[in-house]
Amino acid sequence: MTKTFIQDLVNDMTLDEKLAQLTQLGPHYWGLDDTVDLTGPFKELNIKPQVMESIGSVLNGIGARNVIEQQTRHLQTSRQKIPLLFMADVIHGYRTILPIPLAMGSSFDLEACERFAEIAAKESAAAGIHVTFSPMTDLVRDPRWGRVMETSGEDPYLNARVTESMVRGYQGKDLKEKGRIAACVKHFAGYGAPEGGREYNTVDMSSGVLREFYLPAYKAAVDAGVAMVMAAFNTIDRIPASGNSELLRGILREEWGFNGVTIADFNSVNELIPHGAAIDGREAAEKSLAAGLDIEMMSTHYLNHGAALVEEGKLDIALIDEAVIRVLELKDALGLFDNPFKDADPLVDEAPKPSAEHLQAARELGASSVVLLKNDNDALPLKRGMKIGLAGPFATSIHVLGGWAGTEKDPAVSLYTGISQKTSAENIFTAMTGELGSMLEGVFDVEDEIEDAYQQLQDCDVILAAVGENQQDTGEGGSKSNLRLSANQEKLIWRLKDTGKKIVTIVFSGRPLELKPVLDASDALLQAWFLGTESGNSLADVLFGDYNPSGRLSMSFPYSVGQIPVYYNAYQTGRPYDPMYPNVRYVTRYLDCPNDPLFCFGYGLSYSKFAYNSFNVEAADRVVASIEVENTSDIAGKETVQLYIHDVSASVVRPVKELKGFQQITLAPHEKQVVSFEITREMLMFYGKDDQLVFEPGEYDIMIGRNSGDHCTQRIWIG
Ligand code: BGC
Repeated sequence: MTKTFIQDLVNDMTLDEKLAQLTQLGPHYWGLDDTVDLTGPFKELNIKPQVMESIGSVLNGIGARNVIEQQTRHLQTSRQKIPLLFMADVIHGYRTILPIPLAMGSSFDLEACERFAEIAAKESAAAGIHVTFSPMTDLVRDPRWGRVMETSGEDPYLNARVTESMVRGYQGKDLKEKGRIAACVKHFAGYGAPEGGREYNTVDMSSGVLREFYLPAYKAAVDAGVAMVMAAFNTIDRIPASGNSELLRGILREEWGFNGVTIADFNSVNELIPHGAAIDGREAAEKSLAAGLDIEMMSTHYLNHGAALVEEGKLDIALIDEAVIRVLELKDALGLFDNPFKDADPLVDEAPKPSAEHLQAARELGASSVVLLKNDNDALPLKRGMKIGLAGPFATSIHVLGGWAGTEKDPAVSLYTGISQKTSAENIFTAMTGELGSMLEGVFDVEDEIEDAYQQLQDCDVILAAVGENQQDTGEGGSKSNLRLSANQEKLIWRLKDTGKKIVTIVFSGRPLELKPVLDASDALLQAWFLGTESGNSLADVLFGDYNPSGRLSMSFPYSVGQIPVYYNAYQTGRPYDPMYPNVRYVTRYLDCPNDPLFCFGYGLSYSKFAYNSFNVEAADRVVASIEVENTSDIAGKETVQLYIHDVSASVVRPVKELKGFQQITLAPHEKQVVSFEITREMLMFYGKDDQLVFEPGEYDIMIGRNSGDHCTQRIWIG
């Protein structure tokens, strides 16, 4: 469609129709019967039935058949025949549920991340969805916060690369293409930093920290052409993001040149009131519209007060027009004016099973996300024919899709089922498999059948303890103050250790848990996350060595909850701790636990062994750092070679190290490869005192290695 077509539509709209176009409601509102008195939430929202005819978009209305029906009815009543936009939370797959995003981040595999989004896009497009509220790229440092599962972790560089890969995977080159949907990056900005990890709590940080750590991944989404940006619930510099003009207009539009659609988070315009940033709905609407927030989600202050604000001269109609134009442009970019159903296809959407190709991909994505944290005494891989004991609440559970799991039409493959595809069922012995309920239902532990498990499994060759947290206790509203496994799970692992057999602990969780209490009881420790539909198959591939683990942690695992926040790229302090002098008191340290996490960012083992040699940094015309990586084992494997830098002295204090690049290489047994990174000036730039990007000549530490805690370092001058 032409620009004139959209402008003509806007010229022809009443102010109420424009405001309705800027409103998003759940599908149930369309069932509103105008002969009935408005009650409950309808009354609260003060919705007039005829307004529904002009509403712009639908929240979480899914399913090809529903979408087609609702769109058809809508177009019959819509005066201007403007199609509805259907937006939904497709967070890690729609029909084929894929690994949670924190797990995908841990794959460090950007092609895999793109593939992840492509699969999700294809299936949700067939279900009639036009926009997904993904990627969630909020940087996270606090695993007490339940939503760490929805992001790719603690590092701005990794988050940015994963985010742009996902935007590409969802959107492709043209939103009109079959199987493509628009992406909405969220939650702009800084939502991943609530104080104390408590959901919806205050976020407060310096503008330097915001720009250096929290903003880059949203910016990467914008640079990758993301169609939409969702404003966060939290405040930024004491102003709620949903009414924060410096953020939504200043940084997003003026500085970064974003010209797509912005949307509130669920009810977040209304929440300006409890925040104490608006006295009532009218002021909330005024602030959000003025701030450049285009669509109001699940509250109706734009609708109810927008016209009065314009009439009173408090709001320029041009601001509303601009927002409406952006929404209509998105509808147009998706081709909805020509084909309002886009790819909605009940036959595909209602297929009895997810596609075999997608399931296979999910299995591979899952395997590439698993992180091997410990593997002593060659506990892994398992050998076929071994007598395998399997205990714990996740041993046979199919409730391992992970939160926000799309349609949940198909259960996950359990660990038991996955293992039984690899070895005869006669070799698998189970005990204490009672599932772990949710804390939301007042369940904090599993039943104690520990002695029985000990008796039943003591003659096995190896025992797998499948432990973790209930998937519902992760995600939104899933904050916790204690990150240990429940008492009976910890006891189970220790009692199984008494058998003298090798113990493999497999952790199902949406966040880094506190694993120190079970570390010594576990010969091997595998971080299984929640891997979606193919969970058990992915894990079995890793356990039996059909997939050599290659995941690397996208978030540090704390030694104890009291260390949190613990992350690798912290600023230098004036009194750094020196491990050579462990008993010095007046340095930055804890008396009762190390400063370092139990497992740091970038950490993960393989069944192969990799040696790093001949580290070299050359600074001539270009600065190039290189290292030789050798697979010293008899097993082919994938290694993620990581580049970190550290600015030794600068006009503002710099992080002790920052990831600036990584390369994944696959090495045959005893194969060597030289891996090189060019250190560009851009990599060394940072936000100076006045929030401007600067490069400062000086000394830099260049580090290459296997993770953020294990690398070679060379200091050089770069001018
Ligand atoms: C969440 C968003 C989500 C929205 C719509 C909110 O509660 O914070 O991430 O996209 O609901 O479902």
